Amino acid sequence: MNRVKNINDFQKLKDNNEKIAMLTAYDYSTAKALDEAEIDGILVGDSLAMVALGYDNTYNITIDEMIIFIQAVSRGAKNSFIIGDMPFMSYNLSLEQGLENASRMISAGANAVKLEGCNEHILTLVKRCAESGIPVLAHLGLTPQLLNTLGGYKIQGKTAEQAEYILECAKKLEQAGAFAVVLELLPAESAEYITRNLKIPTIGIGAGVNCDGQIVVTDDILGKFTDFAPKFVKKFANLHDVVLDGVRKYTQEVKNLEFPSKKESFELTENEKEKLCVKGVCND
Ligand code: KIV
Repeated sequence: MNRVKNINDFQKLKDNNEKIAMLTAYDYSTAKALDEAEIDGILVGDSLAMVALGYDNTYNITIDEMIIFIQAVSRGAKNSFIIGDMPFMSYNLSLEQGLENASRMISAGANAVKLEGCNEHILTLVKRCAESGIPVLAHLGLTPQLLNTLGGYKIQGKTAEQAEYILECAKKLEQAGAFAVVLELLPAESAEYITRNLKIPTIGIGAGVNCDGQIVVTDDILGKFTDFAPKFVKKFANLHDVVLDGVRKYTQEVKNLEFPSKKESFELTENEKEKLCVKGVCND
């Protein structure tokens, strides 16, 4: 399979039984690395409120702030499919508000937007976005923007009734025009059942191996964000320790006059030096 360029390529991956690998990015250099690694999709997630800005949850990030991060990611990931996460209350007030903010994300460089939930308003908004040329990635299960009404970070879809309810929601979103759906924090069995019964791909996060794809927060799997680690996070690197080690070595070298050495300094020719010294700049 070549690079994922559009929503049809996500569908092709599901139809060909190939897994979809997605990650988050919030900045230019991370986006550039993900792009180079040929990731299938990059989400500029509202998780950046916690991971990049240090808030306790995702409630405090605004659409204006998200736009800045989407612009940075789109400058770094020129060949990747980028999804902008619509932040809390940026699409819930009215269809006009949702459409306008979704279109701002596309203008900022996103190829699609992500919305949480499946009430009547969301379903209509997904339909209107799709009809207007804005692809939508849906998000069900644990939806962090509804944390207060869900009563915390709890596993969703644990009973047959709950799994059925999430499947019904996912089918309505599919019908409305969503191109894929994120399933967050579900037992693997429920996520597999939903995946089997949907045409569009499911992208799991803490939802087992049988979703059509996976997404996680890059800073979590690379060990850069260390405030907490959910059970579903596997560490593929330990960037926190790499950063700590590098910063400590730098500090020591600065204090010991080892950095910058001649190699990192700009030197004058003898002739240039003489001229500079005549002007009294030299120390000797
Ligand atoms: O904000 C986020 O990063 C997400 C996840 C699905 C990774 O919504």
